[in-house]
Amino acid sequence: MEQLLQQIEAYKQEILSIAPDGAEALEAYRIKFLGTKGILKSLFAGMKDTPADQKKEFGLLLNEIKQLAEGRYESWKQSLEGSPDTGEKIDLTLPGDPLPLGSRHPISLTRDKIVHIFGRLGFSVAEGPEIEDDWHNFTALNLPENHPARDMQDTFYIHQHPDWLLRTHTSSVQARVMEKQKPPIRIICPGRVYRNETISARAHCFFHQTEGLYVDENVSFADLKQTLYFFVQEMFGKDVKIRFRPSYFPFTEPSAEMDITCLICGGSGCNICKHTGWVEILGSGMVHPKMLENFGIDPNKYTGFAFGMGVERICQVKYRINDLRLYSQNDVRFLSQFTAAT
Ligand code: DAH
Repeated sequence: MEQLLQQIEAYKQEILSIAPDGAEALEAYRIKFLGTKGILKSLFAGMKDTPADQKKEFGLLLNEIKQLAEGRYESWKQSLEGSPDTGEKIDLTLPGDPLPLGSRHPISLTRDKIVHIFGRLGFSVAEGPEIEDDWHNFTALNLPENHPARDMQDTFYIHQHPDWLLRTHTSSVQARVMEKQKPPIRIICPGRVYRNETISARAHCFFHQTEGLYVDENVSFADLKQTLYFFVQEMFGKDVKIRFRPSYFPFTEPSAEMDITCLICGGSGCNICKHTGWVEILGSGMVHPKMLENFGIDPNKYTGFAFGMGVERICQVKYRINDLRLYSQNDVRFLSQFTAAT
């Protein structure tokens, strides 16, 4: 009996150690272990000679090795034949299913286009914080406390800190750059700004601006005009004209607002341009000497120009979007219409 048990253990090890590598080897295995004259058959035949008190234990062992031998046979057979054929034919030449792509937000497209155009003129991007202090947003820009021009921008102040506010314009970045960098300075500052306005089709409590600043020796108003003219032609096309109107900003002297010919009516007058043929797109001017002084830049040696434009406004003119609220409503029907700011 002892010998027989050892023999069964040896068969078990043999089954576990072999792996038929083809149909022939598999068939040889089947004949050897599972065939009508195979090992299992003869082992089971030996049952009748087993003493009665050992029959149960012997039977359990035989069943165990039978299951092992048959189980291994089935799994080898399957792996050699491959998965069962379902009759389905796969056409490997078919194109794949396209992944649905999202689209860029029109404000991002417009901002990127602005940055790209000025990038070609050598302007690099500068950024600053949206939570700003009074100095960078107002005082350094020649807007001391109680200056009436502070009322031009309704400001969100931060309760916890009397000196902190949400920046009302990206001109604050001008101040931060001049603080650290000396001329030549040629930067463009895109970013989000905040104003305490009632939300309507024409006003919002947050929007985006892009500021530009160029300070060097011999920078003139003619440079400002030519730079902005180049920008407009790249942004809106070669046929668009520009005009400057005298204006007032505390941080520039002289100051001017710039209009472009209305893209809707081509300048002949419509209700978008209030029948003037012109649409205002930005504020600009020569950097105020006092502002240069604030940052230790000698106004007798250096001059500069600056400008600030609303990104929503540029986007509105370019894509004819008549309601500012659309930009922040996240309606995919609106957002998916914009592919590239060409
Ligand atoms: N900061 C102004 C505004 O938000 C726009 C502006 C005007 C920026 C003239 C400038 C500038 O840099 O020179 O209305």
